[in-house]
Amino acid sequence: MMGHLIMRNLVVGNWKMNGLQAARAEVRAMSAGARPDTVDVVLCPPATLLADVVRDLEGTPIGVGGQDCYTIAQGPFTGQVSAEMLFDAGARFVIIGHSEMRAEGERSDMARIKAMEALRAGLTPIVCVGENAQQRAEGWAAPRVRAQLLASLPHLGPGDHQRLVVGYEPVWAIGSGQTPTVEEIGSVHHVVRETLVELYGAEAGAGVRVLYGGSVKPENAKDIMAVDGVDGLLVGGASLTAASFLSVLEAAA
Ligand code: PGA
Repeated sequence: MMGHLIMRNLVVGNWKMNGLQAARAEVRAMSAGARPDTVDVVLCPPATLLADVVRDLEGTPIGVGGQDCYTIAQGPFTGQVSAEMLFDAGARFVIIGHSEMRAEGERSDMARIKAMEALRAGLTPIVCVGENAQQRAEGWAAPRVRAQLLASLPHLGPGDHQRLVVGYEPVWAIGSGQTPTVEEIGSVHHVVRETLVELYGAEAGAGVRVLYGGSVKPENAKDIMAVDGVDGLLVGGASLTAASFLSVLEAAA
């Protein structure tokens, strides 16, 4: 196995609870305009559009992901969608432990089980962590992120580290238009990498892509991507239209 392999950057668009059938026009415009020869791209539409978006993106290099999955593959769990179902619908990625899920009561131990279930089902989990405004203000951003990682990250089998992705998303930066400085992003990403190496060893820990998310826009994408230790972006609002998502992709390339 190669040591410190150069990973391609990854940009993930998270549509959250947005998007009706009409929004598929944006997906088609994204696939027409994207040049993913330079950066890996994944779109995470709402579950109701997942299979359609998979069809819209068939034959293009843009991958599709879910926004959450359940801890179990199937059974009497009304309202839940399993990792296996996402895979069956054509998804190959899934966001796990997003702060909006955590705000609804998702705990790190559940996120960990979901991430392991995602790996078992053949999906790449994108495990999200991030401090809130108070933790940031009190100087606890890095330890908070480290603690969340230690509790949320899955056990990995051989080769799994190439599939695992971590998203650092300060809760206060999500949807707010505020972002940390590039120095602040760099210092948390450094702690994320240290924690990955501590958990998985030097080689596997170096092979996990670590994304930044929280108010990424076409205007700031380039500066954030240039931060040492940032391997890609997790984009919410700016991924909803082809125009802004394509601009982010261009900046990230
Ligand atoms: P935002 O969302 O880009 O709209 O801030 C990011 C996210 O929650 O993944």
